[in-house]
Amino acid sequence: MRCPSVLLLGYAAAVAAADPSGATTLGQLALHKVLQDSREVFGVESDNNSSRPYANWMSSVPDATPLAHLNIPGTHDAATWNYSQATQDALAYATRCDGGAGPAPAQVYRTQRYGAAAALDAGVRFFDLRFAFDPLDRDLVFWHGAALLSARATVDDVLFAFYAWLEAHPGEAVLLSFQYEGGTKEGAGFDGAVRDRLRGVLGSDAARRYIRQDSGRLGTVGESRGKIVLVRRFDMGGDGAEDEVLPGLHLGPGQWLDNDRRGFELVYNRTSNETAYVEDYYEPSDLGANSTVAENIQAKMDAVKTHLEKAAAAAGDAADSLFITFASGENDANVPHVFPQTMALGNGTEVTPDGGVNHQLVKLLGEMRGSRLGVVVLDFFDEPAELVGLVLGF
Ligand SMILES: *[C@@H]1O[C@H](CO)[C@@H](O)[C@H](O)[C@H]1NC(C)=O
Ligand SMILES: *[C@@H]1O[C@H](CO)[C@@H](O)[C@H](O)[C@H]1NC(C)=O
Ligand SMILES: *[C@@H]1O[C@H](CO)[C@@H](O)[C@H](O)[C@H]1NC(C)=O
Ligand SMILES: *[C@@H]1O[C@H](CO)[C@@H](O)[C@H](O)[C@H]1NC(C)=O
Ligand SMILES: *[C@@H]1O[C@H](CO)[C@@H](O)[C@H](O)[C@H]1NC(C)=O
Ligand SMILES: *[C@@H]1O[C@H](CO)[C@@H](O)[C@H](O)[C@H]1NC(C)=O
Ligand SMILES: *[C@@H]1O[C@H](CO)[C@@H](O)[C@H](O)[C@H]1NC(C)=O
Repeated sequence: MRCPSVLLLGYAAAVAAADPSGATTLGQLALHKVLQDSREVFGVESDNNSSRPYANWMSSVPDATPLAHLNIPGTHDAATWNYSQATQDALAYATRCDGGAGPAPAQVYRTQRYGAAAALDAGVRFFDLRFAFDPLDRDLVFWHGAALLSARATVDDVLFAFYAWLEAHPGEAVLLSFQYEGGTKEGAGFDGAVRDRLRGVLGSDAARRYIRQDSGRLGTVGESRGKIVLVRRFDMGGDGAEDEVLPGLHLGPGQWLDNDRRGFELVYNRTSNETAYVEDYYEPSDLGANSTVAENIQAKMDAVKTHLEKAAAAAGDAADSLFITFASGENDANVPHVFPQTMALGNGTEVTPDGGVNHQLVKLLGEMRGSRLGVVVLDFFDEPAELVGLVLGF
């Protein structure tokens, strides 16, 4: 397959789809265009008012509260919400236009059913986002592994959608975790050109207004309202000096233990010793290749439970530290495959009598009500419906 000369179709598509009603200034029309372009990744807001009781939950939290003390629902691979087989097929013209092998079936990559717009309204305040160059190396877009998630929504477009949401919800703060996604196409890497583009996106006038500009501190709710706290899961290279001054927390890949079952500590500020405690056991591959679906769910759930109990029991400095527990997982090395949806929700048969991680989490969080949990990162956050509320502890 040959790469087309243009991949990002946003401009033409947005002009065609634009509904300028109500827009009276060029600025409003421009924002409308950008928000339209963001939708394939950012999603569309829910039109169901009863599904957003927590749209402003942070506004009642006192200013002085450290963000580390909050229970914060998160979404893992938040950009995959609309990655059905139809979407993968529609993007095939761009995804491996360099001739490489295409991505695996869509269900391997899909971890959500609702995008950030609906998740924000539902109370989610931490988003895991993976970026890389588009197949023509022109702009930063969203991927999950070899799956291109949109040829229209750029990282910049989606950031504007977060800025617009924060304008409408000035009492709220959002943690955005950005990770460079490898394995997108042959020869792609986090090289100088990608870094330059990222500096441009994160250093724009808009970014400087909406992204908290201090470095190496998680801080309080008060100083974060109406803002984004960046979580940087990438290294800018060189001697590492830039990693110490860019806004937000540097949770560098070198310190992030891959698929670690017990959880690990990551010091992101060598002066203050501010530390993140992370559980990101995403694939129970240590069970062997022929484990059952239920065994995979159990192994993941055990790691989640251990880490949440550690967050709840933390004392001293750890009580004031960031805890991040990933409840998401999959095991596509296993026979049968355990897709993210199966891990989170079970497969609806007697094969998973206790449901998926999300159902078991509902039970656990009911028992842990009142505990400090930190950030809990979910797949398919919307199911069961009470899950986000239980993380929040309201
Ligand atoms: C949802 O709530 C908003 C404001 O709270 C209100 O303007 C709107 O009419 C409501 N929509 C529905 C469908 O109830
Ligand atoms: C609206 O959201 C609530 C809570 O999530 C859900 O129970 C209800 O089924 C939804 N209604 C519609 C019409 O989508
Ligand atoms: C979701 O995916 C379908 C199928 O590819 C597509 O038709 C639709 O426009 C997408 N929705 C959004 C909001 O991008
Ligand atoms: C580390 O923490 C200290 C104390 O909060 C702060 O002054 C400094 O800016 C932080 N960042 C770095 C990179 O040292
Ligand atoms: C940070 O940790 C180092 C090594 O454990 C220690 O020497 C230093 O005093 C600590 N700094 C603070 C501010 O706690
Ligand atoms: C898994 O099962 C397959 C047959 O379904 C068998 O060929 C393979 O050897 C088994 N692998 C392990 C690690 O037991
Ligand atoms: C559930 O998992 C079993 C065992 O892997 C499989 O045979 C069955 O087809 C799955 N059912 C559904 C509905 O996914």
